[in-house]
Amino acid sequence: MARTLKIFSGSSNPELARLTAEHLGIPLSRSYVASFPNGETRVRIEENVRGLDVFLVQSVCAPVDKNLVQLLIMMDAVRRASADRITAVIPYFGYARQEKKTAGREPISAKLVANLLAVAGADRILPMTRPGPAIEGFFDIPVDHLRAAGLLGERVKDLALDNAVVGSPDAGGVARAEDFSRRLGGSDLFVVFKRRDTPDNVTPLHMVGDVKGRVAIIIDDIISTGKSLITAADSLLEGGAKEVHACAVHADFTEDVVKVLESSRLKSILVTDTIPIPNQRPLDSKIHVCSTARIFAETIDRIHRHESVSALFS
Ligand code: R5P
Repeated sequence: MARTLKIFSGSSNPELARLTAEHLGIPLSRSYVASFPNGETRVRIEENVRGLDVFLVQSVCAPVDKNLVQLLIMMDAVRRASADRITAVIPYFGYARQEKKTAGREPISAKLVANLLAVAGADRILPMTRPGPAIEGFFDIPVDHLRAAGLLGERVKDLALDNAVVGSPDAGGVARAEDFSRRLGGSDLFVVFKRRDTPDNVTPLHMVGDVKGRVAIIIDDIISTGKSLITAADSLLEGGAKEVHACAVHADFTEDVVKVLESSRLKSILVTDTIPIPNQRPLDSKIHVCSTARIFAETIDRIHRHESVSALFS
């Protein structure tokens, strides 16, 4: 008999979990997630999971430590309740920044987090976008990374921007921009080279590409302080671009970034819902959100039925 599938949500992104379950045509399963008076995470799984195929949805976004610990503790509860298989669905995979030592006496936090997830009981990890090629190798369990480029590409196509040119706000994102350009039918490319002196100080070095009189679309994986996008947009406008739009997968916004982006020279910013956006946007906001719920639902369904996942993202 086929195992039943159940989806539980941590407290970091309940709306995405709810929408994902809705796409799958099942209710979100019940759990109690709270804190003890001293701040420790308290969890109780309120449905039977014995012998079941369990998916736990939790973005490891801010507050990162709390959300990570919650995911670990939820997995521990589900494992002790005899679930047959546990998949950690991690729409935003935090702690991916330190995946190697760049100086003495530094940790490799991503490896530690991979170990913690495995020890807590994960049989499989499902992050949106590859958190980093090295990180996949830190796991000895399957990691099926999802991709949002198709979804973002469809939304950008809907804008029907004529004569658009697509590019990256840094050298590290050129392959991503090439892939995005292919999805848009082969737009020309640009790259803005930048130097990041401190986490919130970005200096543009130079821009390569023919953007004069054209609509420029920047594609990135993460928006955090917004400095990379704003710096790139300024370089593109100085280079003669008619207008600049941006798309990114994860809105890992620091405080005040919504205000900063709204008042920037960017014409629009498209992100996904892997991280909930603070509810402080004006009605005519430049920031638009598209949901990844359908992608998560289709992937979960395929994993549950032992079908190919990569076929979804070719
Ligand atoms: C880094 O290189 C990433 O691809 C992003 O460009 C970066 O994380 C964005 O951060 P911020 O919004 O703080 O510039």
